[in-house]
Amino acid sequence: MATAQTSTLPLDAESSAALADRGLEYALVDRDGDAFAPFLRSVARGFLGEEPTAEQIESSRDSLRGRRLTGVFDRRGVEPDAPVATVDSWVNELTVSPGRTVPIWSISAVTVAPTHRRRGIATALLTGELRTAAAAGYPLAGLTVTEATIYGRWGFSPAAWASNVTVDTRRARWTGPVAPGRLDFVSRESLPARMTAIHERLRVRRPGAVPGWEGRWRGIAGLTPEAPDAKKVRAVAYTDPGGVERGILVYTIAEREEFTAHELEVRALFADGDEALGALWRFALEHDLVGRVMAELQPAVPPVQWMVSDRRAVTATLTDHHWLRVLDVPGALASRAYAAPLDLVIGVGDPLGFADGAWRVRIDTSGQATVERADAEPDVRMPVGSLASLLLGGVRATELATAGLVEGEPHQLGAIDGAFAAEATPLLDIWY
Ligand SMILES: CC(C)(COP(=O)(O)OP(=O)(O)OC[C@H]1O[C@@H](n2cnc3c(N)ncnc32)[C@H](O)[C@@H]1OP(=O)(O)O)[C@@H](O)C(=O)NCCC(=O)NCCS
Repeated sequence: MATAQTSTLPLDAESSAALADRGLEYALVDRDGDAFAPFLRSVARGFLGEEPTAEQIESSRDSLRGRRLTGVFDRRGVEPDAPVATVDSWVNELTVSPGRTVPIWSISAVTVAPTHRRRGIATALLTGELRTAAAAGYPLAGLTVTEATIYGRWGFSPAAWASNVTVDTRRARWTGPVAPGRLDFVSRESLPARMTAIHERLRVRRPGAVPGWEGRWRGIAGLTPEAPDAKKVRAVAYTDPGGVERGILVYTIAEREEFTAHELEVRALFADGDEALGALWRFALEHDLVGRVMAELQPAVPPVQWMVSDRRAVTATLTDHHWLRVLDVPGALASRAYAAPLDLVIGVGDPLGFADGAWRVRIDTSGQATVERADAEPDVRMPVGSLASLLLGGVRATELATAGLVEGEPHQLGAIDGAFAAEATPLLDIWY
């Protein structure tokens, strides 16, 4: 059973010692105390943002409730109380199969001041997070990344992908289903509650998803002080013929010189069911004076391409999105449901030790897995990152094998493909 209260867990001794060797102090930051404002300023600087105002600091203090905030301090510096590195982590719930979730340790706000870069501070922070998460009983850690080059070295690897979609509305005549419900504009203030209600229903059905939080929804709705284009945010809700609200589209429109070719940018499109999905996409594509619709964090193969007359009006650029790190092999693998039986020994290479070793994976005919340490020669071998990428079924073992990221006989790899096939394609539809 993973510990639920993480903000008071002790700091990792190994990272404390490694940082102390460099004259740096590793410390927890109290969200309610004076240390929070400098912490937030360091995060904003790390992500190249503006200096937060007093209002933004209070709004973030509220939205980061329940977070474990850790800073690295150089007390010899001009601003000894401003952390030179930051990380924020919290307990999250990852959907692993439709209707099944597992607790994960989510990580965000990883920054190192440009004055202190490349001295191993990020390494101390990330390995410290992983050891703390593993000791607290979390089978997985997760994050979303600004660059794909950073986190592989600590065993993270993409497990859910997302597409950035652009639609040329002048080519994309609607041929999709006509939804029987109705659309209504709804107020920005009402959006956090509306998004929560719909997203909570959706995310438990979609492997790779995690819940949103009030601060995330307020940002999308343009209700936080720093939200870009806040006053331009508009939203429509789809209600089915039975009176149940099933979809929400939040968007802004950017004006372009050509008056009939403005750009509609989707900030959120959450649809509980195909009718709502069709209704909201149709609304966006048929919006007067709009020439282009752009939406990020859409499914890898976006359904909208099947709903328009010219499929090539829709371009989708696939990107890695949810990166996972396996900390406990039995806990991670046994959390999901599988598509076919399996019995083999997987050898996992993990330089940080958490997942290292040979593991017998048995999946019964009902799709349940039992996993234990094996004293046998592995049938299949892989680095720990590959195990994270395979976990939700978003990529096949045979595909990773072509890149040398899984090794095994073709029939063993094929057996993994059959067992790990996903009931729904993994997707994470928010940033965190
Ligand atoms: C990314 C960042 C946290 C790295 O911090 P750092 O303390 O300089 O990293 P470390 O000194 O621990 O370096 C660890 C390793 O990562 C490599 N590395 C660090 N940043 C990298 C980057 N952006 N791209 C590729 N490799 C990177 C280092 O070269 C080093 O490699 P090695 O292990 O082979 O020696 C820091 O550059 C930063 O704050 N960037 C801006 C904010 C950001 O992008 N955060 C990530 C959010 S997801």
